[in-house]
Amino acid sequence: MLESNKTRISLIIEVLADTIDKTKYKNITHNNKEKQRIIINNSVKNMAEIRLDKIWMNNKLTDWDKANVHIMTRALHYGSSVFEGIRCYNTKKGPAIFRLDDHTKRLLESAKIHRMKIPYTQSDINTAIKQTINANNLKECYIRPIIYKSTGGIGLNPLNVKTDTAIAVWSWGAYLGADAIKTGIDVKISTWTRIAPNTHPGLAKAGGNYINSQLAKIEAIEDGYAEAIMLNTNGSVAEGSGENIFLIKDNIIHTPKISDSILPGITRDSIIKIAKELNYEIKETTIPREMLYIADELFFTGTAAEVTPIRSVDKITINKGARGPITEKLQSAFFNILKEGKRPDWFELIQ
Ligand SMILES: Cc1ncc(COP(=O)(O)O)c(C=O)c1O
Repeated sequence: MLESNKTRISLIIEVLADTIDKTKYKNITHNNKEKQRIIINNSVKNMAEIRLDKIWMNNKLTDWDKANVHIMTRALHYGSSVFEGIRCYNTKKGPAIFRLDDHTKRLLESAKIHRMKIPYTQSDINTAIKQTINANNLKECYIRPIIYKSTGGIGLNPLNVKTDTAIAVWSWGAYLGADAIKTGIDVKISTWTRIAPNTHPGLAKAGGNYINSQLAKIEAIEDGYAEAIMLNTNGSVAEGSGENIFLIKDNIIHTPKISDSILPGITRDSIIKIAKELNYEIKETTIPREMLYIADELFFTGTAAEVTPIRSVDKITINKGARGPITEKLQSAFFNILKEGKRPDWFELIQ
């Protein structure tokens, strides 16, 4: 998905303005890293400017400016929310939501893990998502349904606190930068360990989990990297702050298994299926940290990041420091499916 020209121009102006402020980047010597960090900082700035027409809130399309919560909203204090990140693509067959059922299934499973009950079925939420996209006249967008503990008690027992549901949509380009899809990104291993099944459940996409992810992301950006790779409590590779990871070694594709403290990504699942169809051998397995450094290819997957190659880890160049041939094949098969709307079972047309 391309960013609009206007966004690109304002991005370039901001990059130039920020570059003049040399003191801000005094610790960074590598030009590309500097550029990457500036672009990422700017995409964060652009996020702050999002404003659309309508948000679906508790079964009502509400004006964007009126879709507010009270300061005593429990989720604000304790992170008690579950949410999804979904994309709608303007495919050749028309605007269509990618793997909608799989996303809303995961949403309701996250709610189940956290014992949140809502008065909507999966089909109600699917319909509401389509309604929200249409109400905002979007053909391509990012979709954020969220179920959260709202008001009615601030003690630690959430069971009797009201549970609200909302859906926001907005246009969102390539999360890790449009160029990153081709050139790859520089990442570091985070000093923050990924949450474990006996701390808080990583299979649920819960708001509170992202305190952990944000610490990793902040550290990576402050240190001049685009993203972090988090290890689990056993010291094995888990995932990025908001992406799953794949490693290719000797033509075999590896990815951490579900029990390695990962979110079971829907893009991860799509890439596994595509790789199998292309006859690659794929192993869901434990990956030791050092295997990253000697990988032939590495890439991240995620709804926001789509398929983004990794060109270095902890300043160790991965192979030739460029997108590898298997990554490129998988990426192109994935993007082709998105563009063409092929595999109708993966798309839900919105009109
Ligand atoms: C922590 C984490 N891991 C992995 C992913 C990738 O999951 P998906 O492909 O379903 O977007 C995400 C994004 O939702 C995430 O937040």
